[in-house]
Amino acid sequence: MVKGWDKNSVVDLVRNKLSDYVFVVVSNRQPYIHKHVKGKIECVRGPGGVITALDPVMRHLKGLWVSAGSGDADRLVAKSSKVDVPPEDPSYTLKYVWLTKDENIGYYFGYSNQALWPLMHLAFVRPIIRDNDWSVYKDVNKKFASAVYDEIKGKKAVVFVQDYHLTLVAKYLKELDSRIITLMFWHIPWPTYDIFRILPQKQEILEGLLSYDLLGFHVRYFCSNFLEAVNNELESKVNCENLSVIYKGKTTLVRDYPISVDFDGISDISSKKGVEESMDSLQEEFGLKDRKIIAGLDRIDYTKGIIERILGVDKFFDLHPEFKEKVIFIQMGEISRIHISQYKYLNDEINAVVEEVNFKHATDSWKPIVFVRRHLTFNEILAFYRLADACLVTSLHDGMNLVAKEFTSSRIDNKGVLILSRFTGAARQMKDALLINPYSRIEVAKAIYSAVTMDKEKVKKRMKRLRQNVGRNNIWKWIGDILSDIPAV
Ligand code: G6P
Repeated sequence: MVKGWDKNSVVDLVRNKLSDYVFVVVSNRQPYIHKHVKGKIECVRGPGGVITALDPVMRHLKGLWVSAGSGDADRLVAKSSKVDVPPEDPSYTLKYVWLTKDENIGYYFGYSNQALWPLMHLAFVRPIIRDNDWSVYKDVNKKFASAVYDEIKGKKAVVFVQDYHLTLVAKYLKELDSRIITLMFWHIPWPTYDIFRILPQKQEILEGLLSYDLLGFHVRYFCSNFLEAVNNELESKVNCENLSVIYKGKTTLVRDYPISVDFDGISDISSKKGVEESMDSLQEEFGLKDRKIIAGLDRIDYTKGIIERILGVDKFFDLHPEFKEKVIFIQMGEISRIHISQYKYLNDEINAVVEEVNFKHATDSWKPIVFVRRHLTFNEILAFYRLADACLVTSLHDGMNLVAKEFTSSRIDNKGVLILSRFTGAARQMKDALLINPYSRIEVAKAIYSAVTMDKEKVKKRMKRLRQNVGRNNIWKWIGDILSDIPAV
């Protein structure tokens, strides 16, 4: 099947192809989080496309999801480290891997997010590579592998591992039983060889990834970069035509699967009353009435180009002071990875730049930038998108960028302009966005100007085409294509 994937066709595929197998998903973040809220324990679904896509698959297969526990009530709820989820309809098992503080420091804050994350994203943040972090990273990957193995021993299993935190899980699993089928999806970019080659553990990382049977990236370009790294580093047979590698007699298929969002689900929720009510309260809370709204929404991370975005807004008001009081830029964001110093500095830098630009352009009754650091409910996120005349995505480098796709999915009114960094995976699919280089303030400023002055019919035409694109290339296609390609099942 090439197109037309939906939840039902994915469930059919799973029923036909995988019912004899234990299906295991492994990720650092968990699909459901148990937290103490006002003296009670609440269980909330985690955010993100992976959970949207895999939760129904897991429910159908009654599979096992293995993650590090991070909720403050996870241990209370999960007897012998396991709990059936979701609470209202327990369908599959969530198994926790408990990490110590030192393990978290070495594996998550250290090797994953200070070495691999900056290395893979070209955002000019120097990776910090500590031997001890690497050693803890390996131990934690081993811990994940044995948590999985304990559950699948002697059974036929497909293990689907997510992301750069867990590159070595398949290697350790295959050492225990080479018949386990292993898949990995790499959710972040893969850089060119010049960048990758500085990683002291490059060969171990590549060998780890070549232990998977199927390795997925968002776009073909990342597959090519990966194959180039393998070609340069390992004695292997790289086939660039059918995108595969044979290493030590074992084949790994390397494929591109652009991740997406649940287009129909988001469109549906966006038309609900709850979202409309949130639109009113957001307008009220942030003084957005009767203004053109430029919206940004990101986890606060140096790869997202938040400073560049603010400087682009600054340039826009320099060039077009006639839009003062008429246009407002509102950025929502949740703080992230705050124990890492670069993230702390970034937050301080953002505060300083926002303050400076607001001071420069503000009038008595208006300031150009509203910056809000808080968690938004999903209803509020959709309401925020729906209020926007334009959504501004300025990532300096991004594997895909799901804000662009969520924004598009929410625009059931076919309104809103998407301004999108060329350096996102999404830019390769979403040609009806206004594509920009976020490093160029003038390009960002011009795109904002085009967005706020664009003819209504033109806005509609572009948004309609964007919606068709995301509707076709939805999250079901992502998972449907991956599951169809599982080798030897
Ligand atoms: C990126 C990564 C994900 C990660 C997410 C949030 O999108 O690819 O694996 O979960 O960032 O980061 P966090 O460190 O909060 O899990």
